[in-house]
Amino acid sequence: MAAAKNDSAGSESVRVRDLVTTFPYGSRRVAVVDQVSFGVAPGEVLALVGESGCGKSMTALSMLRLVPKPGRVEGGSVRLGETEVLELDVPAMRRLRGHQMAMIFQEPMSSLNPVQAVGAQVVEAILLHEDTTVRAARKRTVELFAAVGIPDPRTRIDAYPHQLSGGLKQRVMIAMALALRPTVLLADEPTTALDVTIQAQILRLMRELQRDTGTAILLITHDLGVVNEMADRVAVMYGGKIVEMGNRRAVLGEPSHPYTRGLLAAMPGRARRGEPLHEITGVVPQPAEWQRGCRFASRCPERLPHCTDQPAPRSEPSPAREVFCHARVGAPRDIDPGSSRPVVAAEEGE
Ligand SMILES: Nc1ncnc2c1ncn2[C@@H]1O[C@H](COP(=O)(O)OP(=O)(O)OP(=O)(O)O)[C@@H](O)[C@H]1O
Ligand SMILES: [Mg+2]
Repeated sequence: MAAAKNDSAGSESVRVRDLVTTFPYGSRRVAVVDQVSFGVAPGEVLALVGESGCGKSMTALSMLRLVPKPGRVEGGSVRLGETEVLELDVPAMRRLRGHQMAMIFQEPMSSLNPVQAVGAQVVEAILLHEDTTVRAARKRTVELFAAVGIPDPRTRIDAYPHQLSGGLKQRVMIAMALALRPTVLLADEPTTALDVTIQAQILRLMRELQRDTGTAILLITHDLGVVNEMADRVAVMYGGKIVEMGNRRAVLGEPSHPYTRGLLAAMPGRARRGEPLHEITGVVPQPAEWQRGCRFASRCPERLPHCTDQPAPRSEPSPAREVFCHARVGAPRDIDPGSSRPVVAAEEGE
């Protein structure tokens, strides 16, 4: 998908550009989401993958302006059609959430009101955004509860969050997100906590929603089987940055960035659901330790001398494919080519 050159989202449902979100670490602020740019078209699923702590949830939370303090969105743009999300006032932002852009949270407990029955919360959300009757909203809630595999939905809508298991709460959250038929759905590990049968049911439901309403989905997941089954495109994040993005087949079939290659390595028969992304050996650096250059440099088998202090350049190995890596563009002109050989493997590890 070619990025629109102007500021509007163009043919995309949402366009994120140069998004930066920081947290304080000691006396400085570190960008845990660092110059992140991507778009999602109507009816498309973009999977966002990467190891724990790389900034996937913060990217989604930033898009909805729900970053917890002392975190802060510092810059960039989130366009929904002609609307600049980062400039909306509080009431407009509240109207937008759920209806135009909804999120299924990784931590379902934190997003349900503990003192209101779960069904009433979904009904209320529907009534807030749609001109319909309580009766119709309640009927739709029961249907959705059944569709996400909540047993005995007619009774369960009157339950309070603490009366439901984690898995059922997650399904309530999914029902809530789907109830409003959002333009953009941010799904943060939506099915990780659920058993495989329910996972399949929910993924199917998300696809149905897409077919009916053209919802654009940003799908955050650790599960390569889910990526294979659901995603049209894949964005790989490391240390707050997207390091590689492109069509699913291209990125998974011919990974270009050394991090993506590592992530996908040693995964025979990796199309199966429930198969987690392989974790690369070595320690993921904490944000406080992130350096100016490529953050993967300390673990990278293809590291060049300038990788640690110069931000990785963008290249397009093929149309609609982006890679951010020094090793893919060669040495910068101001560096002696003789000093740009890859660091030998023996230096790795320690
Ligand atoms: N309240 C906070 N204070 C300081 N740093 C934070 C805070 N919340 C998150 N971070 C940091 O922001 C970075 C990105 O976190 P994020 O939750 O987006 O990771 P993630 O990719 O979603 O990981 P996971 O796969 O474990 O869900 C992490 O390095 C984390 O340590
Ligand atoms: Mg997360």
